[in-house]
Amino acid sequence: MKPEARHAVCPGSFDPVTYGHLDIISRTSQLYDEVWVAVFHNASKNAVFSVEERLELLRETTSDMPNVRVASFKGLVVDFCSEHGVGVIVKGVRAVSDFDYELQMAQMNYGLGGVETVMMPTNPLYSFLSSSMVKDAAKWGGDISPHVPEVVQRRLVERMRQD
Ligand code: PNS
Repeated sequence: MKPEARHAVCPGSFDPVTYGHLDIISRTSQLYDEVWVAVFHNASKNAVFSVEERLELLRETTSDMPNVRVASFKGLVVDFCSEHGVGVIVKGVRAVSDFDYELQMAQMNYGLGGVETVMMPTNPLYSFLSSSMVKDAAKWGGDISPHVPEVVQRRLVERMRQD
């Protein structure tokens, strides 16, 4: 499919989605006509939620953003882009420490598929936030309500109780 510069993708693991992700997705949806949130099937990561559960949480938490669609993908993000006609990858950058890796990925993705990357500075409210930290806090009974929507909090607390 021909890439469309007005269509963007926010790729990630989203295990689970946090307010930091939702801030980037929502700001991306103001800038582009159509936004895909693409959940990567990552075999090497020890995921708490299955891909289907992550998609479900993303669908619920982005339901107020009419131009946002949710899907999963295996393999390269540039292949997702060519399958869906997406011309731009949008990535949130929390701090300089994220930048180094994101720059390498952006250069690789441009080389592999000619797909541009836009790096969006994270809202400072969420500059320290990551799914791993939220999972760790939840595991030890910490209050995660400032970091994730209620539905995610509920599912995470339930899941941690089972383990
Ligand atoms: O939320 P994460 O785990 O930081 O997301 C990382 C992700 C999924 C965006 C990145 O690993 C990715 O794009 N993976 C797909 C494989 C790929 O295209 N790699 C980049 C070129 S080698």
